[in-house]
Amino acid sequence: MLSQQELKQQAATAALDIVDQVAGPDVVIGVGTGSTADLFIDGLARFKDRLRGTVASSERSAARLAALGIPVLDLNDVERMPVYIDGADEIDPRLHMIKGGGGAQTREKIVASVADRFICIADESKLVERLGAFPLPVEVIPMARAAVARKLQALGGKPVLRAGFVTDNGNVILDVAGLNITDAPALEMHINNLPGVVTCGLFTQPGADIALLATQQGIRRLQRP
Ligand code: 5RP
Repeated sequence: MLSQQELKQQAATAALDIVDQVAGPDVVIGVGTGSTADLFIDGLARFKDRLRGTVASSERSAARLAALGIPVLDLNDVERMPVYIDGADEIDPRLHMIKGGGGAQTREKIVASVADRFICIADESKLVERLGAFPLPVEVIPMARAAVARKLQALGGKPVLRAGFVTDNGNVILDVAGLNITDAPALEMHINNLPGVVTCGLFTQPGADIALLATQQGIRRLQRP
């Protein structure tokens, strides 16, 4: 029986196979954040001479990439990326996701928006029928914390300030439990439109293009319907 760590490694390795297919001297890879993305970064080191570089979705991933000698580029200097590789906290069969367990959802969404394809890598425990058991991370500008929390409560959520955490953008995170997510795209739009919200952790517009989910029987590949 493979451990969760071994499953994450399997998913990261499957994503590295995709890098092997797309690698080239002008190619830039978008890199996510989290423990599964960390394993992907470690494996990416062997491609560093076959790539122009990477764009990282967090300071944490940028530091890990740089420590391995993998070039990290400013997104403003990059027009195109064939793939963005990242984990998820939850993913459903439509490949909608909840992300932001690491508090990096804003930069993750920005980098993903420039990539041709979002490849989600995760162990199969992240696959759910319906999103919402994982509390939804919402990045908020600090002065709007209480006002946004009240609006999220009015939606049926129970927002909790992530203690001692400041995002790479200097903001705070409200983790919102108890939301009844029946229409994830509508909720994503609604929360993102609340004044003071920078980005909520719903990724539905679009979600992932491909999910590589590691199971005890090997990689299960899901494609956006
Ligand atoms: C970070 C994220 C991560 O992708 C998500 O939290 C999954 O992390 P892990 O691979 O450690 O399970 O969204 O903001």
